[in-house]
Amino acid sequence: KTVENTLFIGKKIVFVPTCTSTNDLAIKLLQQPAAVEGTIVVTDSQTAGRGQRGNQWQTEPGQNLTLSIILKPVFLAIKDQFYLTMVTALATYDFLKTQSPIPAQIKWPNDILIGGKKMGGILIENQLQGDSISSAVIGIGLNINQKDFVFHTATSLSLVAQHDFTLQEIFALLLSHIESRYLMLRNGHHDTLKRDYLQNLFQLNESANYLHNDQQFTGIIRGIDAWGKLIIETEQGMESFDLKEVSFL
Ligand code: BTN
Repeated sequence: KTVENTLFIGKKIVFVPTCTSTNDLAIKLLQQPAAVEGTIVVTDSQTAGRGQRGNQWQTEPGQNLTLSIILKPVFLAIKDQFYLTMVTALATYDFLKTQSPIPAQIKWPNDILIGGKKMGGILIENQLQGDSISSAVIGIGLNINQKDFVFHTATSLSLVAQHDFTLQEIFALLLSHIESRYLMLRNGHHDTLKRDYLQNLFQLNESANYLHNDQQFTGIIRGIDAWGKLIIETEQGMESFDLKEVSFL
């Protein structure tokens, strides 16, 4: 099976009914020199799904989209790694715009929210070579048809849209959006990507509470810096935070 509506993403699809993590499997595939850009690893169920900050990613088997994409962004400098995050989050946003009655938002760096609740997450793992990125594994988990969640802060597309989705159909659609945004990056449209990412960023220019070193503070997200760090305006002025340095309250 391959998808029809793309040039190179999803021309090779590796489906496994279950695995530890599609990112693990994709990283293993990359050890074979023949692993082509655009290869997808997709599963119904992960036994050790991984999230950001060392978190686990657990979802109900067979109900959701759980996949990893192999890309070879050799054109991208290591300092521009965050553009892969922007590409993936934005493409997911674009895809949801066609399916969700209410718009999604991107919670920095790459959580996908609908109605303020988390419906998806992204875990990107890059392999570096010299000054560039030889390959990247783009892991995406989107809650689609699942109805029950352990955390009340989670939701799914079906809960929001009030109908179920055919996973194969929306899988192909998601991939075409990812390819479009990735081609924008390959063609050097960095400014457009950054503009669109910021336009859909959760709590941009809003006063809210954050946590840094167990200290709560109030601040206003003003953007991201050249490395993708979050810029928050605080009483001290503009400060940049990486993933380990700040959390949302
Ligand atoms: C997060 O929100 O912290 C990121 C979650 C990423 C989950 C996806 S599911 C497919 C891929 N395989 C994994 O083990 N993780 C990512």
